[in-house]
Amino acid sequence: MTKEVHDSLLSDLQEFFKDDYSGHDFNHTMRVYKLANNIAIQEHANLEIVSLAALLHDVDDVKLTQSINYQNARLLMNKYGIDQATQEEVIAIIQDVSFKGNQSKSPSTLEGKIVQDADRLDAIGAIGIARAFTFGGNHNRPLYNDEKPERNMDETSYRQHQSSTINHFYEKLLLLKDMMNTECARVLADQRHQFMVNYLEEFFDEIEGKK
Ligand code: ADP
Ligand code: NI
Repeated sequence: MTKEVHDSLLSDLQEFFKDDYSGHDFNHTMRVYKLANNIAIQEHANLEIVSLAALLHDVDDVKLTQSINYQNARLLMNKYGIDQATQEEVIAIIQDVSFKGNQSKSPSTLEGKIVQDADRLDAIGAIGIARAFTFGGNHNRPLYNDEKPERNMDETSYRQHQSSTINHFYEKLLLLKDMMNTECARVLADQRHQFMVNYLEEFFDEIEGKK
């Protein structure tokens, strides 16, 4: 990507995400992009593919658009004359990263693994905490329920906690560090995870009036 393409694509994305309240705003894309690039340098991955896939990973998200067959990503890549082979590689990554289902899907290429790691890292740590409470606020969820949820709790107890933002930590955020694909991301995830664990400890101490 030349500097002109890079700058122009960024302003396209800024425009695209301007009305988003689902937690997939332009700043999320920029954080994933920067993180993915840093990991890619250390893992000796293809920077062009990683950059494009990171920048475009959310433009066809079902929560944002009714796009069919990754049309937004394709449109942007065509606009900047990205060759067909690169486009297919990028689309394959977006497809794996945005895959929603019971089983998570690990991308087959190093570049895809890196983008998925970066997207997941942005859900944990200090930023992850902020995003979770923002999501909860947007959905009118209470910060926490009366009882402290346990990891891997049974279905019934889980339901009682389902509606609070703190529950989301136990349901998803605390599990993400074990789902990293690359060694580099694992190191970053461990630090972010520890920060959340400390945060939760402090949080419950304060709720109980211990501090
Ligand atoms: P992605 O599309 O990246 O998998 P989601 O759409 O599931 O992410 O979530 C976007 C952001 O909102 C993430 O930071 C996630 O942790 C947060 N989020 C999603 N569901 C909840 C929830 N039930 N409670 C609090 N935060 C949530
Ligand atoms: Ni994302």
